[in-house]
Amino acid sequence: MRHSTPSPGGGENKRPAPQTLREAFVSAADQLREAGIEAPELDARLLLCHAAGLAHEDFVARAGEVLPPRAFDRLQAHIERRAAREPVSRITGVREFYGRHFLIEGSVLDPRPDTETVVEAALDLIETRRGRGASLRLIDLGTGSGCILLTLLAELPNARGLGTDLSRDALRVAHANAERLGVADRASFTVSDWLDAVSGEFDLVLSNPPYIARGEIGGLAAEVARYDPHIALDGGGDGLDAYRRIASGAAKVLAPGGHILLEIGATQADAVTSLLCQGGFLAEKINHRRDLAGRPRVIVAEM
Ligand SMILES: C[S@@+](CC[C@H](N)C(=O)[O-])C[C@H]1O[C@@H](n2cnc3c(N)ncnc32)[C@H](O)[C@@H]1O
Repeated sequence: MRHSTPSPGGGENKRPAPQTLREAFVSAADQLREAGIEAPELDARLLLCHAAGLAHEDFVARAGEVLPPRAFDRLQAHIERRAAREPVSRITGVREFYGRHFLIEGSVLDPRPDTETVVEAALDLIETRRGRGASLRLIDLGTGSGCILLTLLAELPNARGLGTDLSRDALRVAHANAERLGVADRASFTVSDWLDAVSGEFDLVLSNPPYIARGEIGGLAAEVARYDPHIALDGGGDGLDAYRRIASGAAKVLAPGGHILLEIGATQADAVTSLLCQGGFLAEKINHRRDLAGRPRVIVAEM
């Protein structure tokens, strides 16, 4: 059953007759399908649950209940935003990453599943070399929402970490996430243009820097090109600007035997390896780790 929708222009403002959650779901999925959204049912369900303040697992049991008018209005607003290609996570303001929920806002990259490979690589390395209980100093360059740093602090009870970003607004979000995850006492944050304002010594340097070649940004999915901050995507003309900066300064902040882990784009392994060699790392101490799709995703180099 399809309900007439209040148009953004205000033409038709009457609220339709009350709908059950099931009817609202079907109508929302239809609207998203017509707008060309790839997974209309999934997105409709997520947005409906968010609008109704419902846990996802309760949807089926409560599908026959009537959707309150305010929740209906919220859902309609969500559907319009999603039809304009805004990602569900930006509409709900939350993204799950490595099993935890991170707040996201316009100032931060929407964390990607690919980036969980950085976390896995770091945890494997720590388990093999030092054990999860070790006292470690971490730095996450371009921390954004804080997803890499804060996940590691949550997994490593004796680690402390510094998150940096050029964006003060991003650091505010990361700090809020640190509080929510209960690791704020072991996390600090500072504005820095890559390593410029960083001093001290770290056991792990981590970063998922912007690595899209500038000319390719316009060709990305609208969900990315329109909604992720440009500063989080733009890797300069060849996509490697941030790696040049990080690779040339990392040796100065790494403790002896420390490691740097850099997320990379699918074709950047050789170029980033060579930048690290120019920055003083030995080729035989540089490896890469693949993501679930089998693409090189993280460069790991030992000092
Ligand atoms: C690809 S996003 C990664 C965000 C987060 N670490 C993640 O994995 O979801 C890159 C981050 O680098 C930050 N950034 C861009 N240029 C920077 C610079 N010159 N110095 C420090 N951070 C920068 C952006 O603000 C953004 O938060």
